[in-house]
Amino acid sequence: MNTPLLGIEELSVGFDTPEGKARAVDRVSFALERGETLGVVGESGCGKSVTALSILGLVPSPPGVIESGAIRFENSDLIGSPPEALRRIRGRDIAMIFQEPMTSLNPVLPIGRQVAEPLMVHRGLNRKEALDQAAQWLERVKIPDARRRMGDYPHHLSGGMRQRVMIAMAMVCRPKLLIADEPTTALDVTIQAQILALMVGLKQEMGMSLLLITHNLGVVAQMAARVVVMYAGQVVEEAVVSELFGRPFHPYTRGLLRSMPDPAGRPDGGSRRLSEIPGIVPAITEAIVGCKFAGRCPHAFGRCREQAPGLFDIAGGQRARCWLSRFPERRRTDA
Ligand SMILES: Nc1ncnc2c1ncn2[C@@H]1O[C@H](COP(=O)(O)OP(=O)(O)O)[C@@H](O)[C@H]1O
Ligand SMILES: [Mg+2]
Repeated sequence: MNTPLLGIEELSVGFDTPEGKARAVDRVSFALERGETLGVVGESGCGKSVTALSILGLVPSPPGVIESGAIRFENSDLIGSPPEALRRIRGRDIAMIFQEPMTSLNPVLPIGRQVAEPLMVHRGLNRKEALDQAAQWLERVKIPDARRRMGDYPHHLSGGMRQRVMIAMAMVCRPKLLIADEPTTALDVTIQAQILALMVGLKQEMGMSLLLITHNLGVVAQMAARVVVMYAGQVVEEAVVSELFGRPFHPYTRGLLRSMPDPAGRPDGGSRRLSEIPGIVPAITEAIVGCKFAGRCPHAFGRCREQAPGLFDIAGGQRARCWLSRFPERRRTDA
């Protein structure tokens, strides 16, 4: 059977907030095949990180709670897995890198030790073997003079070098899935391009799957085969990259594309802010009847404000959560 490596099914995640229970992730479904790179895009606050944290069982609880859904990884449901099983999978089978490496690097431990640690925990290597492999990995992620820098602390390194250490740490156990949450957002443009190139190379070499979360469509164009667009906690469009850029359906996706300075997609393609779509993402505490994007949508008509659209098939695997798929005559040509 050709089951996907990762299958997220109808995942809903809520938070207890001072204004009551609010949903940050609302029945999100997508799948990731072996060896595939899937991009997840959307403005800040759309639920991308909470979705990623759910996969690893890292949603802070309280206030977070996984309300429903399944997260299948190689046929086991991670949501039901005991914490011990999740800890084993984390770092060994699924690794994650974040926007700000300082939050995941230990400031008081030399980088060599930190890269060696997963090998001791998950692979049972002794310290000497693990340190030796760590040094090889630091060379592989192109830390200059890697062996001599094994004893450096994170604060000795630049942001780009720290992200390389994070990548080494994520890769040492040869995970089947790497989740990268805004891996280059905090870096300047030239460093971004180098880090992305490093990730592409390692991914090809290792044959792993990559879940690439970013607000930057340029990064997606360069890296991903397929894209999931999230808005206000929901998947609003899903398509292969060429379709998404060639014939985006959802007005939100179109807005995101319009806010890109270079639709051909360079790595720095999102250096302008995507929030150039008028208005802002609604707060998760806001109760919305109908389509969550209607308040910002130039095409919105009566139905959009009355009834929430489903995720409709458009063509060839492309899907969009938009009433225009049923009422195409409502699409305005001037917007
Ligand atoms: N610990 C938390 N407590 C309360 N709300 C949270 C928490 N973490 C995230 N949220 C809310 O969940 C929503 C989705 O956040 P997030 O997944 O981080 O968005 P993204 O990664 O797309 O920028 C946001 O409205 C955010 O404020
Ligand atoms: Mg995020």
